[in-house]
Amino acid sequence: MLKRLMAIPLLLSATALAQPLEVLHWWTSAGEHAAADILRQQLTHAQVEWQDYAVPGGGGDSAMAVLKARVIAGQHPGAAQIIGPNIRLWARLGYLQPLDDWSTAWPGERYATLETLTHADGVRTAVPVSIHRINWMWLNPALFQQYNLPLPTSWSQVFQAAEVFQAAGIVPLAHGAQAWQTATLFETLLLSVGGPEFYRAYFVDLDPNALHDVRVAEALSLLRRLKGIMDPQNQNREWQEASQMVINGDAAMQIMGDWVKGEFTAQHKLPGKDYLCMPVPGTAQNHLYSADTFVFFRSNKADTQRAQAAFAHTVLDEETQRRFSLAKGTIPARADIKLEGFDDCSQTSAHVFREAEQAGLLAPSMAHSMATSPGVESAIFDTLHRFFRDDSIPIEITQLRLAQILSALSDHE
Ligand code: GAL
Repeated sequence: MLKRLMAIPLLLSATALAQPLEVLHWWTSAGEHAAADILRQQLTHAQVEWQDYAVPGGGGDSAMAVLKARVIAGQHPGAAQIIGPNIRLWARLGYLQPLDDWSTAWPGERYATLETLTHADGVRTAVPVSIHRINWMWLNPALFQQYNLPLPTSWSQVFQAAEVFQAAGIVPLAHGAQAWQTATLFETLLLSVGGPEFYRAYFVDLDPNALHDVRVAEALSLLRRLKGIMDPQNQNREWQEASQMVINGDAAMQIMGDWVKGEFTAQHKLPGKDYLCMPVPGTAQNHLYSADTFVFFRSNKADTQRAQAAFAHTVLDEETQRRFSLAKGTIPARADIKLEGFDDCSQTSAHVFREAEQAGLLAPSMAHSMATSPGVESAIFDTLHRFFRDDSIPIEITQLRLAQILSALSDHE
C-alpha cells in the first residue's frame, strides 16, 4: 500500500496541491539554511511543501529540547532531524514510523556505518542525508602568507604561528565557547593525541584503562593551552561568527566540522583561495564523523504518510544528494555518488571516510550525538564547559569526572 503511495507524486499534475509536512531541524546559519533550502526546493517536485520548524542552536541541543516538549504536548512534527543512537531511543519508545516498507524502493549504495545508524533493532527508522568530517582546521591563507608562516601540520607550528598573530593583534584561534563547541574541540584533541583506536576505546568501548589513561590528561591540557590563543570575548559566540572572523581576517584559524565550509560557500568563498581546510594536527588519516539523518513521526493520516515517504525518497535522490552536500560542506550519504565537481576538502573527507570505515577506525563524534546517549552527552558537555571556563579546576579532577560519567553509561547499557 505505502509502496503504491510513493508513486503518486510522480503522477500528480504540476498544479496539484502540495501536501504540507512540518520539518523540525537546527539548520539556521546561512550555509545550513542554503542546504535546507535545497531539500525544500527538491520536495516541491514531489508535491510536498516543507513547513519549516527551525530551532536555532548549533549542534542541535535546543532543537532536541524543543522536540521533546512538543512530543509531550502531543504536537510532534511530520519529520525531524534526529541523529545518532538517539534514533534508537525514539524508535523504541514507539514514536517513529518504520521505513522498511518504503525503503525497498530507495536508490543507491550506503555506507555500512550509516546502515547501522539508521536501523533500530533491525528495522530501518531514519533516512541519511550526508556525512560531516569534524577534525578540520579552517585557515585564512592570506594571513599565513602575509606573516610568512608555514601552514601548520603540528601543534608546535600552531603555537609558533599563534605567537606571531598575537603580536600583530590578530586572534590566532577563533572559538565560540558554547558547551557543544568546546566539546567538539576536546574530542578532536583526544583523537589527535590518542589516535582512532584510543578514541574508540574511550568514547565507544568505555574501556576503564582508556578512561584513566594519561592521554586524556594530555588532551585536556592541550585544550587549556589552546584557550590561551583565543580571544577572551568568545563566550556564547556562535560557530558561524567564529568562521566569519577567519574569513574577515580578524582570526587566522578555527577548529570545527565542515559545516564551516557550507558557511563559506554561502558567501561564494573558494577553498584553496579564500580559505584552506587542513586536518587537525595528527589526524590526517582519521575521520571524526557526524551523519545527518531524518526520522518521521508516526501518523495515521494517508496524506502525511505519502508526504513522509516522498520526503525520504527525495533526500536520497541523486541530484538532491549532490546539491545538498555541495551547499552543506558534506559528502553524500549515498556511497555510489561520484564526487566530480566537489572540492578537495570533500574529496579528502570521502577518501578518508572509506578507508577508516574499512579499517574499523572511524571515530564517531561524541559532541554530535554519534557515540553516547543524550544524558551522558550533556554531563560531558557540562564538565568540559566548566573546565574550559575555570582555569582553577584541576585536570585530574576533570578526567576523573569524565570517567565517572562514561562508566555510568557502560553500567547502564
Ligand atoms: C551538527 C550537524 C550539522 C551541523 C552542526 C552545526 O550536529 O550534524 O549538520 O550543522 O551540527 O549546527
